[in-house]
Amino acid sequence: MTLPPVPFPDHARSMLVDLPDEAATAGLARRLAPHLRAGDRLALDGPMGAGKTTFVRHLVAALGGDATCVSSPTYTLLHRYESHPPVIHVDACRLHSPGQLAALGFDELCAEAIAAIEWAERIGEALAPTWRFAFAHVATGRQARIEAPAGVQP
Ligand SMILES: Nc1ncnc2c1ncn2[C@@H]1O[C@H](COP(=O)(O)OP(=O)(O)OP(=O)(O)O)[C@@H](O)[C@H]1O
Ligand SMILES: [Mg+2]
Repeated sequence: MTLPPVPFPDHARSMLVDLPDEAATAGLARRLAPHLRAGDRLALDGPMGAGKTTFVRHLVAALGGDATCVSSPTYTLLHRYESHPPVIHVDACRLHSPGQLAALGFDELCAEAIAAIEWAERIGEALAPTWRFAFAHVATGRQARIEAPAGVQP
């Protein structure tokens, strides 16, 4: 059973969502997709296997893209998926410095796309995220703590 999201009382834009299985992560992606806009930058953090790539895969599907293309950006620094809008997928673990993103034309690419950055904490505030996701392993599966932009009530 998927538990309803629990809003943090101290922060109206933050919420804690229980994700007992991958289907729940897919449901979260479908729920958030209509609230995402080109130019949004999603910081995805949490330990290995916590569900960052899985969330991106279901987000691409929810945006009408081909989810089968989505994998961790291990061999290339940056993936682009042709969803609506497109999704730019980066694993910050692979970057040697935040400046590498600029060298890839990241800002230009993101203007017309949603950027999803795994291990975003590695590049600090250089990403200027509009959404923050902290995925975690919990006894019941996974949990995501989500911070949405001001004015967005997903
Ligand atoms: N509730 C859940 N949400 C997402 N994935 C889940 C869940 N429960 C189990 N899984 C499984 O856990 C794995 C998550 O792997 P994923 O590649 O998404 O992690 P990651 O956070 O991207 O790790 P890494 O930091 O190594 O890139 C997948 O095999 C997925 O099927
Ligand atoms: Mg991953």
